[in-house]
Amino acid sequence: MANRLDGKVAIITGAARGIGEGIAEKFAGEGASVVIADLLEREGKEVAERLRKQGGKAVFFNLDVSSEQAWADVVANTVAEFGALTTLVNNAAIFNDAGLLKTTLEDWNKLIAVNLTGQFLGMKIAMPQLLKTGNGAVVNISSLYGLIATEGYTAYHASKGGSRMLSKATALEYAKQGVRINTIFPGDTETPAMDNLTEEQNAAVLAKVPMGVAGKPADIAYGAVYLASDEARYLTGSELVIDGGWSLP
Ligand SMILES: NC(=O)c1ccc[n+]([C@@H]2O[C@H](COP(=O)([O-])OP(=O)(O)OC[C@H]3O[C@@H](n4cnc5c(N)ncnc54)[C@H](O)[C@@H]3O)[C@@H](O)[C@H]2O)c1
Repeated sequence: MANRLDGKVAIITGAARGIGEGIAEKFAGEGASVVIADLLEREGKEVAERLRKQGGKAVFFNLDVSSEQAWADVVANTVAEFGALTTLVNNAAIFNDAGLLKTTLEDWNKLIAVNLTGQFLGMKIAMPQLLKTGNGAVVNISSLYGLIATEGYTAYHASKGGSRMLSKATALEYAKQGVRINTIFPGDTETPAMDNLTEEQNAAVLAKVPMGVAGKPADIAYGAVYLASDEARYLTGSELVIDGGWSLP
């Protein structure tokens, strides 16, 4: 255990698996009290239990990030459990590669509700608590697909581009008020969300990555630890691209 996040209390959405789980593990290892907030109850509870066994402070709370009431409950329960809320990691998201014509309005609304409205609601409802600390931090997880376009992921690209500007606008709004808001743009990262890609699809993705390999959740988590820590006290509205060089050419 190290202590780069000692005294921090963090809600991490989508932390039952994948990148969110990786962030929760590193945060707990650095001394933060961690709320695993996810729809996946069994997996989320298992992650919290594992982190506690490793000596960390962690609980699971059920959260649908697209529900304002669920956010209000999770923020209130976090403060009741740990006494404050200093840090929010908006990581939960869903994927869709159906392209323009095959994306139904229902699919579009669902994806935007989770990926973009979820980040808006999280910041809106956590903000009064973050402001109270005088030293709050938000880390929004966008995607390389919030910076570059590919074919098919139409709604996903729109949501992640929206996340980028939502972060910047709120970073500006709160710059003088002691809450920093920064964004991470992960590239191809090995998580359960990528399990349904075929071997050919995987190879096609890797062919675009100058480093030639996929990242691991920990690669993204190290960036999140930095942005959430007081080491990043002079950073707000910044864009941390962790993509093995995919965005370079
Ligand atoms: N894996 C990648 O290659 C990659 C690349 C770029 C960006 N990202 C971003 O990283 C983040 C995590 O992705 P991942 O690959 O770990 O995905 P994942 O599907 O493995 O994990 C996502 C988690 O979010 C949860 N979730 C989904 N909808 C939710 C909701 N409405 N409320 C609460 N929780 C919900 C899921 O239950 C799951 O535990 C996402 O924001 C994603 O867009 C991932």
